[in-house]
Amino acid sequence: MDVYTAISQRSSIRAYQSSDVEEDKLKKILEAARLAPSASNRQDWKFIIVKAKETKRKLAEASFGQSFIGEAPVVIVACGTEPKAIMACGQPAYTVDVSIAFSFMILLAYELGLGTCWIGAFKEDEIKKILKIPKEIRVVAMTPLGYPNQPTLPKSRKALDQIVCFEKYE
Ligand SMILES: Cc1cc2nc3c(=O)[nH]c(=O)nc-3n(C[C@H](O)[C@H](O)[C@H](O)COP(=O)(O)O)c2cc1C
Repeated sequence: MDVYTAISQRSSIRAYQSSDVEEDKLKKILEAARLAPSASNRQDWKFIIVKAKETKRKLAEASFGQSFIGEAPVVIVACGTEPKAIMACGQPAYTVDVSIAFSFMILLAYELGLGTCWIGAFKEDEIKKILKIPKEIRVVAMTPLGYPNQPTLPKSRKALDQIVCFEKYE
């Protein structure tokens, strides 16, 4: 599958089959994160793989009850490990870096026939408690991972001319 096909065809998956994710596929997805670019190539990230049923249930609960998170065979929790690192542009590096790595994972998962759903609605303190994540580490995103139990949905997006301008901000 070429990259554009994955970008244009994937959609968020909120219903999962119970069948396991093969270990070689999971490893490939994690490898996509490992190979992602990061500011100064610092790679200040950690990806926690959760398969334990009760832990997944707790993660779903800490995500405002989004129960489909707990129904997937795997949940990946993405953390920034150096949240104090600020880029020259003034932005913290960890949100950007972890998001790029997560995007790579999501696209590769789609190529492998697996569904994901970026989860940003969670109570970070609770997630940290559940997974014993140290105080200084930040949780950036989570995704369930598994075989979809729903069709891919059509995209609703702004038109290009609404989001692109030329030579100056308009
Ligand atoms: C930063 C971010 C946070 C999101 N948080 C959630 C979430 O907590 N729960 C959820 O169901 N979807 C969440 N989504 C998925 C978006 O709703 C979804 O990507 C968007 O509606 C576009 O649909 P598509 O992914 O199917 O193309 C999130 C997406 C992003 C990028």
